[in-house]
Amino acid sequence: MSKPQAQPIVRVEALHKHYHMGGEDLHVLRGVDLTVGRGEWLAVLGASGSGKSTLLHLIGGLDTPDEGNVYFDGQSVFELPLPKRDRFRNQHCGFVFQFYHLLPELNVLENTMLTGMIGTRPAALRERAAELLERVGLTERLKHKPKQLSGGERQRVAIARALINGPDLLLADEPTGNLDRKTGEHILDLFSELHAGGQTIIMVTHDAQIADRSNRELTLDGGRLAAVATTAE
Ligand SMILES: Nc1ncnc2c1ncn2[C@@H]1O[C@H](COP(=O)(O)OP(=O)(O)OP(=O)(O)O)[C@@H](O)[C@H]1O
Ligand SMILES: [Mg+2]
Repeated sequence: MSKPQAQPIVRVEALHKHYHMGGEDLHVLRGVDLTVGRGEWLAVLGASGSGKSTLLHLIGGLDTPDEGNVYFDGQSVFELPLPKRDRFRNQHCGFVFQFYHLLPELNVLENTMLTGMIGTRPAALRERAAELLERVGLTERLKHKPKQLSGGERQRVAIARALINGPDLLLADEPTGNLDRKTGEHILDLFSELHAGGQTIIMVTHDAQIADRSNRELTLDGGRLAAVATTAE
């Protein structure tokens, strides 16, 4: 069911992305339009190779589209010069990936502080990181290195790190894809809590059961987004 969205946080317009490989043109996104309201938890479903990660990276300004644009609170992301775009992304977007992407030589607290805003006093950053780690249930693990943690714990660190700058938008790419079902449920419980606290989330998954935890589901098919057909109850 769609409801009116007073103030969209993100607007994606006619997004196209091609990859060129060995003389072949792979037209992955073929005109994606999307509006995400503040406080929504959106799930994007789609088969492997349908372009879900590509779309997420474009929304977060990690990659550049061939056509179309992404607007954040009305600001055109791709019209910003690169250094400004990087700062903008760092301020507004937090990323969580399937394989955590933690730095092995840093401990839990240091990993969480890593992408903190330059210019923040180290003591304030440390305090904020410790608060977030408490929120994700890792207070007892601050000095652990990633290899001393379980998969679920690693993903919790990645979530704390993604939240360090208080992002308007949390982007999660298969956040439970590498976890067993029960551990994955705990991560989704954490997303539910964040969502209840007002966090806007875009989550990519190929798993319909995981997508069901969100409050809106779209599917990427043939390079475009469409509403997920609801199954009869
Ligand atoms: N850097 C790249 N260069 C060339 N082709 C790419 C590149 N990145 C992705 N692709 C291709 O684009 C298509 C979409 O990739 P993408 O990673 O966005 O899919 P996905 O929906 O996230 O898949 P999965 O569910 O397996 O993660 C795939 O066919 C992939 O091979
Ligand atoms: Mg992917």
